[in-house]
Amino acid sequence: MKCQVKVKAYAPGRVNIIGEHTDYNQGYVLPMAVNMGILLTAQKRRDKLVNIYANNLDQRASFSLNKLAPGKSKNWPDYIAGICWALQEEGYKLSGADLDFGGNIPIAAGLSSSAALEVAAAAAFSYLNGLNIPEKKLALLSQKAENEYIGVRCGIMDQFASALSIKDCALFLDCRSLEYEHIPLDLGEHVFMIIDSRIKRSLAASAYNRRREECAEALTMINKSTGLQKISLREVSLQEIEKARPFMLPELYNRACFVIKENKRVLDAVKAFKHGDLQACGSLINQSHEGLRRLYEVSCKEVDMIVDAAQSFRGVLGARMTGAGFGGCVVALVRRERVEKLQERILEKTRVTSAKEPHFYITDPADGLKVTEVFTMGSP
Ligand code: GLA
Repeated sequence: MKCQVKVKAYAPGRVNIIGEHTDYNQGYVLPMAVNMGILLTAQKRRDKLVNIYANNLDQRASFSLNKLAPGKSKNWPDYIAGICWALQEEGYKLSGADLDFGGNIPIAAGLSSSAALEVAAAAAFSYLNGLNIPEKKLALLSQKAENEYIGVRCGIMDQFASALSIKDCALFLDCRSLEYEHIPLDLGEHVFMIIDSRIKRSLAASAYNRRREECAEALTMINKSTGLQKISLREVSLQEIEKARPFMLPELYNRACFVIKENKRVLDAVKAFKHGDLQACGSLINQSHEGLRRLYEVSCKEVDMIVDAAQSFRGVLGARMTGAGFGGCVVALVRRERVEKLQERILEKTRVTSAKEPHFYITDPADGLKVTEVFTMGSP
């Protein structure tokens, strides 16, 4: 009887503590993995076929590794096909596989369920084909799949957090050098609460891509009007942007201003977490939301209402929208003993405004990608 190798790859979702819309401006981010994820099991085939079963949806899909081409469609099998495409584009030789996967990350809520699926699939194909691809590269290949195969021009934060986070720590990432540091989060009496507004804006992907263009346009204007030659907003100071201000469209000035300040907030938050100054972290988190709402304009009224309710609640140190925005989740740093009361307060508020009833999650900073080999007995 032959022994067959199966691999199990688990990749978590992430919540971003601070550093929003900074990754594609070569800036800093501070996400952490959440305790919700995708578990994918895969077994190698001898041909070029990939068969997938999605547990949660009870749906199947198949494709051939010989026929992959970016199509800008966002159905769930495309995320796995995109990974295979990105691996093959990089020159890796792949065999087909039988896969199944399932998970508990709310879909399209801004907690990176797609990044988790990509990272888990990339790790599984790497393992089954003996490619030994390091986590950093798995994250980059997953981003490439999302950018070029799916057509969402995301930065590197989500895939990186899913692949490289460790328990009890946030991941401080420099998105230019890709150097990173695990920052221990000593939260004491506090926890991170995630509040899913359950609002999903249908044009979120195009609005996100538009923000990226605006940042590029803002940079061009700054360089043109000041004679500087900066290659990203990450390198622009507040003094420099003030010089360029008279030549900039107010909207673009606001976008750039937010990015510059948000980068600084990430650095300050890292310092504050290292010193155990949760009060300071909370205040930076609040400032981040204010900027996302007024300058970057990626929040929405339902999310603002949850943030306002949280920020004004005793026991909450800070609250902000998290992820790309346009709906999605809020993250709050809250005293553990106040969690239930906060939940009640937010539910009350949403009932009065007849917004959708939010969902609540409490999460500790969790481990990133885990790959385990499993042996099964095949037929004789
Ligand atoms: C999405 C993208 C990330 C990042 C955030 C905003 O989650 O996938 O790369 O840009 O939005 O911070």
